[in-house]
Amino acid sequence: MTPERRAAYLDALGIDWYRSKHVGDPPDLTVPASAEVGRPIATATTPPVGQPGSETSVPVDPTGVADDVPNEWPQLRSVVASCQSCTLGSTRTQAVFGVGNEAADLMIVGEAPGAEEDRRGEPFVGRAGHLLDAMLTAIGLSRTEVFIANILKCRPPNNRDPQADEVAACRRYLERQIALVSPRLLLAVGRIAAHALLDVTDPLGRLRGRIHETESWPAPVIVTYHPAYLLRTPAQKARSWQDLKAVRKLLHTQ
Ligand code: URA
Repeated sequence: MTPERRAAYLDALGIDWYRSKHVGDPPDLTVPASAEVGRPIATATTPPVGQPGSETSVPVDPTGVADDVPNEWPQLRSVVASCQSCTLGSTRTQAVFGVGNEAADLMIVGEAPGAEEDRRGEPFVGRAGHLLDAMLTAIGLSRTEVFIANILKCRPPNNRDPQADEVAACRRYLERQIALVSPRLLLAVGRIAAHALLDVTDPLGRLRGRIHETESWPAPVIVTYHPAYLLRTPAQKARSWQDLKAVRKLLHTQ
């Protein structure tokens, strides 16, 4: 995509900030000295993520995907579509499976479908989704190049926070999706996704700016703000851009 086309796209969305930061040279990601979880994201010398010999090398196989969860996309989609493992199965309009490149380098994990996603059956298609698209555009990616999924496949009523039993019931589907996509990098957007992926309860600000490697996932996890939060708190876009810049760097480092 040419810079002009990207700029026109962002203009159409009314999001100037990402355009100007992308066209210019955004600041380097800084790491809070007090951060304790994960390791700091390095600067230009960061080794390729997940490569043997790099500090980010992790086991390829995710652990613990239940045997009864299909390991082929059509069957997995079908099981998710008819899932009644938790009470959300009776309140949703439809399950929102996920979308994008099934062999993506970058997999984005959000929280749960909202009203628009529940209606349309696709993640991140509401206002927050438009901002997520713009964030991806700013690092030269589109939603067709990444894979986007949520911690929960079904919308919680009134957009309330997911409950622990719902997260637990849905986890095996996300585990299988991550195993099938086998991304090089996972991007957790928002507190709920970060906590569920990393099995921690630290404030999101403490989880940003780190590369998180856990035995649960076959790829490192980067944490950033949820686009819905950025819509409410645009001042934090500067920090989210630091995170995106780190994602771009990690994906492009060979
Ligand atoms: N917020 C999310 O976390 N996921 C969606 O799909 C939509 C909004």
